[in-house]
Amino acid sequence: MPGPGRFVLFGHPVSHSWSPFIHGMFARQFDHVVDYKVQDVPPDGFRHAVINFFVAGGGGANVTLPHKPEAAEIVNDLSARAERARAVNTIVRRSATELYGENTDGVGLVTDLTRNLGVTVGGSRLLILGAGGATRGVLAPLLEQEPREVRIANRTPERARQLAEEFADLGEISASGFAAVENKPWDVVINATAASLAGEVPELPPRTIANETVCYDMAYGRGDTAFMRWAAERGSQRAYKGWGMLVEQAAESYLLWHGVRPETQSVMGALDRL
Ligand code: ATR
Repeated sequence: MPGPGRFVLFGHPVSHSWSPFIHGMFARQFDHVVDYKVQDVPPDGFRHAVINFFVAGGGGANVTLPHKPEAAEIVNDLSARAERARAVNTIVRRSATELYGENTDGVGLVTDLTRNLGVTVGGSRLLILGAGGATRGVLAPLLEQEPREVRIANRTPERARQLAEEFADLGEISASGFAAVENKPWDVVINATAASLAGEVPELPPRTIANETVCYDMAYGRGDTAFMRWAAERGSQRAYKGWGMLVEQAAESYLLWHGVRPETQSVMGALDRL
């Protein structure tokens, strides 16, 4: 299946997105002619914008904040993962009136951790910071790796408890506030809070991070994030930001739309050089 067509990323705001650059590099790998643009739509215009886009022949769409939950309501059919996440980041066109919703965020994160960074999630003690949509989107694919234990820690502990209950059938999962996290090193700590965007870092007990603790910030940007700096100050030799997750989730979207999975290393290299 060749890959021409019109694709769009819906978000609000969205102008800062790297996705057009990433999809452009993917398309060149296959000599596809792919037109991938961003479209800023406010929440009350989202449904209308999606319908217009597909009726006008759009090939597929990515969806970012704040529209992921609504996208899950709009599509006709959902993958099991998107249904669990109650959020869609990739819309696949089956026909002008039949849209399929998938969520590739969790697979993107797991692929970056396991394949790119060589982290073994299976059997690990995994601490996730935050209990919003970002956490909900990645929990099922993380639990599929069969970590020994997952703790969700959140500023508002009640939200973490609700999420833990909802995913309890998929593995060993508990919840607490930040201060109640056991004060001993965790194997993997994933930051899924919005705190990093404000340059803030959750207040965890001092010994939760050791030299070998893998600290992964789902946020990204140029240079180190506040969470990466915080992790390094506490001795972590392995602090990463979410570039790889961004590229891998994009590769999964590309596969769904075009039937081929792009190679991702060269794209990550290009992002690092920007
Ligand atoms: P998203 O869909 O991006 O995850 P969200 O549902 O608003 O957005 O969730 C944001 C997450 O970041 C929540 O876990 C939030 O904590 P609360 O549930 O207590 O609100 C967390 N968060 C945002 N700002 C934070 C801060 N300054 N310190 C710690 N946690 C923060």
